[in-house]
Amino acid sequence: MRSALVFGALAALAAASPVPQEIDYDSVNAAGLPPTATIPVVGATAQVVTYDAAAAASSVAAEVTQDPASARKRDLGKRDGSCAVQPTGIPSLVPSPDTASAFLAADVFAAAATSASTPSGYTNTFTNLKASNNAYGYMGYTTLQSYNPTLCSQKCDKINGCAAFNIYFERDPSLDPNSINCPDPKSVTNIKCVFWGGPVTAANANNAGQWRDSFRVVIAGSNGYVNNTIEPAQGYSQPNYLGNAAINAPNDCTGANTYMGFKLFQDGPFDANLCATACSAQSAYNLAHPPAAPAVPQTCQFFNTYLLLKNGASVGQYCSMYSESWANSYATNKGSYQTNSAGATDHYTITYSYSFSNSTDPGVPAGPCVKV
Ligand SMILES: *[C@@H]1O[C@H](CO)[C@@H](O)[C@H](O)[C@H]1NC(C)=O
Ligand SMILES: *[C@@H]1O[C@H](CO)[C@@H](O)[C@H](O)[C@H]1NC(C)=O
Repeated sequence: MRSALVFGALAALAAASPVPQEIDYDSVNAAGLPPTATIPVVGATAQVVTYDAAAAASSVAAEVTQDPASARKRDLGKRDGSCAVQPTGIPSLVPSPDTASAFLAADVFAAAATSASTPSGYTNTFTNLKASNNAYGYMGYTTLQSYNPTLCSQKCDKINGCAAFNIYFERDPSLDPNSINCPDPKSVTNIKCVFWGGPVTAANANNAGQWRDSFRVVIAGSNGYVNNTIEPAQGYSQPNYLGNAAINAPNDCTGANTYMGFKLFQDGPFDANLCATACSAQSAYNLAHPPAAPAVPQTCQFFNTYLLLKNGASVGQYCSMYSESWANSYATNKGSYQTNSAGATDHYTITYSYSFSNSTDPGVPAGPCVKV
């Protein structure tokens, strides 16, 4: 697996926009959606994805001044299976008859999901769905011997970047299906615990399984849990939760535009420190390239970072930078409808929005404040 992150490169070095900021939909469209994670249904009982926060932050710092193109390739290589014997899962949980419809109807899965208790420090975001999540920032998975959200949460807590998890029962093939030799093998039942770097919600629980030759993979008893806290950012106030809205700051009382531009990160997990690093790097850049006197360089003292969604799917972690701090009451941007190049309408929304203010200097208007 990839061990460090590459990220979408969208430069906004000298954004001297005369109007209050708006999400840069042109750049967002050009960046496209990050690839959907493929969680294996054959071949392994666990997958580890590591996140190197320091390496990711240092790429952000370099990118702010260099803006390299991001190179990301999708691996869509699909091959027929080999009939290799797969891990046995939990034999007592294979329904009779051994069919996808019996699996979907089995009370035992619904009962486990609806009676599960929520681990402390987490919020249960949905219960007993028949689909798994495509959330932001795939962080690997493990299989469990029992349907135990607390055990799953403890594993999430040990994974750098894990913000949420999805636990469910999955009907998987006992042999890696092959179109000629074993197109529809007997099933095994696995309990999967999948880790994500952004929130799992009913809206992004949209993976209802798949066909492997004539074998149908299905999911039942799917529950989602999101950690109630995010990592703080060094040198900033505690994360300030803004819910589903982004800051939409007016000019300040001197008439100055405090918006300094944005970055978009597309390889999860969600990490406020990426935006903090971009903010500091932007300040350093501006201080090293001051405008002609009497103007003074703008430094980044405040940022708002959130997940931007397009029709419910994660586009990436948006990071807006400001020279002054803005109160929660300015979090009024809840996204918008945009007409795309094909003439269809895309609905952009915001979720998991947080603001951070430089803890030693939140930024103040330069010079005496003249209200207009
Ligand atoms: C939640 O996330 C925070 C920040 O990453 C972490 O310190 C904590 O261990 C996680 N789990 C719980 C139960 O709070
Ligand atoms: C906070 O602001 C001060 C003053 O501009 C600056 O020196 C410091 O580097 C900032 N902190 C961070 C983490 O960027």
